[in-house]
Amino acid sequence: RKLSFDYSTKNTQPFNRKTFPVLHTDRYAGSSPVYKQPREINSYSIDADRRVWFDDRELKYYFKFTGHNLNLGFDKFIKRDESLLEHLDTLLDAVTDARRKTTNPNTTNANFITWRGIMTKLLCTPYCRNEPWELRATKYNDTIFIEEQTTAEKKEKEAQATVRQQLMSYWGYKFETLSTISILPKTINRDNYEEVIESRIPEGADTNVQYCVAVKTTLGKNSVIMGAEVDCSRDEKCVNDPLRNYIELKTSRYVENEKQRRTYERFKLLKFWAQSFLAGVPTVIVGFRDDDGYIKEVKSLKTLEIPRQVRGRPGMWDPSVCLNFANQVLDWLSDNIVDNDPTVTYCIKWQHPWRELVMECTGHDNVFLTKRFIDGEVS
Ligand code: A3P
Ligand code: MG
Ligand code: MG
Repeated sequence: RKLSFDYSTKNTQPFNRKTFPVLHTDRYAGSSPVYKQPREINSYSIDADRRVWFDDRELKYYFKFTGHNLNLGFDKFIKRDESLLEHLDTLLDAVTDARRKTTNPNTTNANFITWRGIMTKLLCTPYCRNEPWELRATKYNDTIFIEEQTTAEKKEKEAQATVRQQLMSYWGYKFETLSTISILPKTINRDNYEEVIESRIPEGADTNVQYCVAVKTTLGKNSVIMGAEVDCSRDEKCVNDPLRNYIELKTSRYVENEKQRRTYERFKLLKFWAQSFLAGVPTVIVGFRDDDGYIKEVKSLKTLEIPRQVRGRPGMWDPSVCLNFANQVLDWLSDNIVDNDPTVTYCIKWQHPWRELVMECTGHDNVFLTKRFIDGEVS
């Protein structure tokens, strides 16, 4: 990635190292900053060959789960090659495309542009003291762009994933395959109904295929555009407010004892809530599976009601803590990343001993905005 830039606008010297303390969760409790209802500003499909289409060809519809056995089709599991780093490329294209379609430039500008998954990590950080992450940031035209930098630890973990771990990851995708369909369910001919259901059971999963949206929202004083994958829609896409029909599909261990209940409520519900809340996805459908990959129960959760399940319980989590913390981090990033120079990147790390976030200027290494984004073009 080679970007050239006009340095006449540069006014400060990059710093070497800044830190942001991560305090006890109590310190972030209290009233939360305003989080505006997210609005969809664009959507796009990525096909099996990772080609991007600005249409709904890969949008799936929710269709009642059938089959139960999540192991079926594992031999046909196609996993996206994650060693091919795609940075923010498709999201940047989606923003450029949205800018072309809109007459109101405000809707496509923001203080931050990033993936929803990165915001999820930020929200959960005060409660995740042993899950490291590394982000990379850069600033251009008064917008801070943030992408994930795969840690060496994570790469190693993935390379060493056992067949069992790969199978368990497949279960999540298989649940999605068994709960969705490419055509609107109400258009299925009654005579073919059984056939359609049956045909899904042996199917595999291809994680190259995605349907993504770009949403815009505001947290405190920072506007944020996020790219997010949408698992499926409850019905036809509704033009004015598409988000309200989207559904996030999740799997989780079927709860049989107190320890499992605690893990589910303390860790799983926190992540389910953060992920869907951020993108304004109102419904999470959870498939509870056993240790052999069989679904025992499917439950629908209303995203906004998830925090109520853990509210006021000792050792659980509080959504205000997540939002206050993330809000302060965004303010810290905005105060410190001041130069509009997309050829300079900053690395932000959360790691052992879990006391602070550390930001370093990494100079001209790892530049990640695309030339076509700077030029206002879509490939
Ligand atoms: P589950 O979340 O049901 O386990 P998503 O739910 O975000 O749409 O992701 C779909 C599936 O991708 C997940 O299903 C899981 O199987 C897999 N997946 C997502 N993020 C992962 C991660 N960080 N590590 C391993 N697998 C992951
Ligand atoms: Mg998904
Ligand atoms: Mg999902």
